[in-house]
Amino acid sequence: MYLQLSTWQEVDAYLEQSKAVLIPIGSTEQHGPNGFVGTDALCPEIMARGVEEATGCLVAPTLSIGMAQHHLGFSGSITLRPTTLIAVVCDVVNSLAKHGFERFYFLNGHGGNVATVTAAFSELYAEASLGKADPDRPALRCRLKNWWENEAVQRISRQRFGAAEGGHATCSEVSLTFYGYPQHQKNAAMSPEIAPTGPIYDSSDFRKRYPDGRMGSNPSLASAEVGKELFDGAVPALAADFRAFADAP
Ligand code: NI
Repeated sequence: MYLQLSTWQEVDAYLEQSKAVLIPIGSTEQHGPNGFVGTDALCPEIMARGVEEATGCLVAPTLSIGMAQHHLGFSGSITLRPTTLIAVVCDVVNSLAKHGFERFYFLNGHGGNVATVTAAFSELYAEASLGKADPDRPALRCRLKNWWENEAVQRISRQRFGAAEGGHATCSEVSLTFYGYPQHQKNAAMSPEIAPTGPIYDSSDFRKRYPDGRMGSNPSLASAEVGKELFDGAVPALAADFRAFADAP
């Protein structure tokens, strides 16, 4: 069930049987020479389709702009400041909590969101603990789950890509988007074959260290076929994780 394709009465009916909602969250940022700028938002959105099919859960609109300040040296990248993203997450959660949602499962596609989204959860819990939440607000639980953090994705990535998987513009994430959007697949030469690795500071430093935007990866190995393997492998694990969170006493 998709929030954007539902009526408000259908949302009311859903709330009769579940208080849990899945919110894909990602980023809009460069992903090297052959990866889409939307990679980090598209990946959790693609996985969310599988989880929806497996569980019937309600899927909220994807929060597709995240905390990506270090990518601003590349055209098309957009960032929210950490404080802005915290405000966005809190407002989204508080809006849905007003209608009775209690469990918020953020399926994440961007490592750079983790610290900020986790801080937003702490803000929400602090509102309750300090008596600052709406008195009618139910007790909330939030979970952030990275789509790649499961045995299947780790295994397939190791088998298919080994050391070429990398840390940004990874072979796996590019493969998953090629599976989701095969008509938009791109080819590009990679030089060097495997990109450098290192730390992350601000955007001009990032551009100097990682001139074509990749970190540690060779995504010319990416393919829609492996993307399908990743999808088929990860969805059961993500669906089970969602169910466990939604149903936990
Ligand atoms: Ni990414």
